[in-house]
Amino acid sequence: MTHVHSRLWLPFTQMQSFDAASRTFVRGEGNALVDARGARVYDAVSSIWTIVHGHGHPAIVEAIAAQAARLDHATTLGATNPVAEELAERLCELSGMQYAFFASDGASAIEASLKMALQYWQHRGEPRRTRFLRLVESYHGDTAGAMSLSDIAVFKSRFGAVQFESIPFADAADVLRDDVAAVIVEPIVQAAAGMRIVPRERYAALRACTPLVIVDEIATGFGRTGTMFAFEQLDLRPDIVCVGKGITGGALALSATLATARIYDAFLGAPDERKQFFHGHSYAGNPIACAAALASLRLFEREGTLERAAGIAARSAERLRSLATHPRVRETRQAGTMIGVELREPGSGWPTGNALYEHGIFTRPIGDTVQFVPPLSSSDADVDAFFDALEAVLA
Ligand SMILES: Cc1ncc(COP(=O)(O)O)c(C=O)c1O
Repeated sequence: MTHVHSRLWLPFTQMQSFDAASRTFVRGEGNALVDARGARVYDAVSSIWTIVHGHGHPAIVEAIAAQAARLDHATTLGATNPVAEELAERLCELSGMQYAFFASDGASAIEASLKMALQYWQHRGEPRRTRFLRLVESYHGDTAGAMSLSDIAVFKSRFGAVQFESIPFADAADVLRDDVAAVIVEPIVQAAAGMRIVPRERYAALRACTPLVIVDEIATGFGRTGTMFAFEQLDLRPDIVCVGKGITGGALALSATLATARIYDAFLGAPDERKQFFHGHSYAGNPIACAAALASLRLFEREGTLERAAGIAARSAERLRSLATHPRVRETRQAGTMIGVELREPGSGWPTGNALYEHGIFTRPIGDTVQFVPPLSSSDADVDAFFDALEAVLA
């Protein structure tokens, strides 16, 4: 077979051994992806936690097409548009936050949150607050700032030159330090660490926290853990919430840094005070992406998406019960529809993932953990198909 040279360089992928013939997706159909060989595989990882209502949902496709014809893009640097306005309103309503600052990728929302925190403390006359606390095994993205807040060695160890130090926090004594700008946490579950469930006590220190509390809902937001946002289950009162991934239902890149009035108000002043937030991206508030997000949020109501998520979580919990005692399984972890099955044998993640693909299931292992983070439009039959295939592969 002649090797077709590709100019495409893929993220987190060893290109020397990547075989495009084995994995080229050409179509999305509901909860499935179709590859170039015509194989139809269940997207059991929601294309890395982005797809919510299935691929190509007609309501989202229509909203995108209509908005593209009306207003494709207009900068939000010193200007606004009605779609971004409406989405800001809607996100604040849903999250209990008061202002929305838009970007595109999750990591960009994290960068904005860091700079927002630093500039906030300068305006408040406490410029020494420059340190950031985080959880152990955290992950907040791959840009320099987000990477500095992350704790997964293989992702960051080569890039020390562009990182700052962040501090893993344990208790209230840490969060009371007077040089801390903000504490950033993933709520309930740390997805990139292999669906690691965070002990609830870890969040207790944040309830009476002097520094700002930044909640990263990029993976957990929009129903994945059962509620619209995971922090709702933790009795947390965040100052800043970062959202991304599922915000558009998975169709387009969009992220937002949501803030309280306390933060926003600190940035108000006369033009010559130079208190505006010194941060922004070209596609912030892109109308097409915002229209997709509004369509996705309407689907949550129309299709009872959170109820469906509860059904998926219950069905999965049932199936996990028997897997938990399987001789090849070390541990099963679940937060709503975010599920990890950790295998005992080191190095068994990828072979298991590849075998699952042959059984019509697409997932991407994290180390030795097989992940199941299905679209919230999945049926009981889809859930069963995943667990049946996993049991067959493990047998
Ligand atoms: C919790 C969390 N934060 C941030 C990010 C970064 O988002 P993005 O990949 O869109 O930059 C991710 C991505 O997986 C994530 O899981």
